[in-house]
Amino acid sequence: MSTPRIYTRIVGTGSCVPPRVVTNDELAAELAKRGVQTSDEWIRTRTGICQRYIAENMSTLDLALAASRQAIERAGCAPADIDLIIVATTTPDGVFPSMACRLQAALGLKGCAAFDVQAVCAGYVYAMSVADGLVRTGAYRRALVVGAEVLSRLLDWDDRSTCVLFGDGAGAVVIEASDSEGILAHRMHADGSFGVETLSCDARIEHNAVVGTGFIRMNGQQVFKLAVSSLTESFREVCGMAGITPEDVDVWVPHQANIRIIEMIAHRLGLPPEKTVVTVNLHGNTSAASVPLALDWAVTHGRIKPGNTVMLQGVGAGMAWGSVLLRW
Ligand code: ACO
Repeated sequence: MSTPRIYTRIVGTGSCVPPRVVTNDELAAELAKRGVQTSDEWIRTRTGICQRYIAENMSTLDLALAASRQAIERAGCAPADIDLIIVATTTPDGVFPSMACRLQAALGLKGCAAFDVQAVCAGYVYAMSVADGLVRTGAYRRALVVGAEVLSRLLDWDDRSTCVLFGDGAGAVVIEASDSEGILAHRMHADGSFGVETLSCDARIEHNAVVGTGFIRMNGQQVFKLAVSSLTESFREVCGMAGITPEDVDVWVPHQANIRIIEMIAHRLGLPPEKTVVTVNLHGNTSAASVPLALDWAVTHGRIKPGNTVMLQGVGAGMAWGSVLLRW
């Protein structure tokens, strides 16, 4: 008798955004009070962003917990059935303990494995890749994988080239071991040589004081080019690993940073708009939360159907990027 191959499958998704939505017009009016000029027209045409959610009175944990509860409920299981928690975040509520341990406690759990992954906007695909690997070994049965961010707290509201781009939110999935196909292939990459000059928030804590800038600094055009080239290449690579071609992908859930990045990659790969999930207009760039938020949106809006081949892709500071290909 042959041993069934162990796959991992997503069995539930969830998401949470804070209640406060800020449209481009509202943001432009607020920034004008500080002498910073921008407009809905500039933001929409350069980025595709129409609004973003801002966490005024919510922490990363609040967002992660709400998204997790929804994913667990939709998975038809209980928190106690989770034996591995991985949180991807760049904006934890403190230096330590990890957000995963804080989330574990908030879910009323004890004893299961819990740790964070820090790969900025690629964090969620990194976390999914790690979770898939751990569940496939048979060491863990069911994992909660979360991307959660309050990026708005790293924004310099006097820097119009970055402050209009980001928003807050969280997305979560439950994945579990399965005999039937789920995650088909994944691959993580990084190139640290781009370093802090390209994209960073270069703050650290020393002797009870924050040293360095606590704001995001970015070379937008360099990031744009790197995002397009890395995700295009990664898409082809991971399709090749699974023995399929890019045309075989039914639904593409890319990192939601900029509609022009998404359109340029789609053009290079020949992906039609109907296969592409776009939520950057609604959420802005939510870093590690962007892909799971977009995935949950796609699931709840009927864009992903059983049997679909789905590509998830993240890219961000580091530079770090990666792809997860799965059968829904
Ligand atoms: N409103 C109005 N004008 C603005 C704004 C703004 N919010 N921001 C910049 N400008 C101005 C600039 O000052 C510049 O003016 P100038 O010509 O008088 O000097 C002009 O617009 C053009 O600026 P560019 O930087 O050349 O604009 P560009 O077309 O490159 O768009 C953008 C900038 C949107 C940041 C783009 O480079 C981009 O999206 N890059 C990708 C960055 C990204 O997505 N980062 C997210 C984190 S990493 C990740 O998630 C992948």
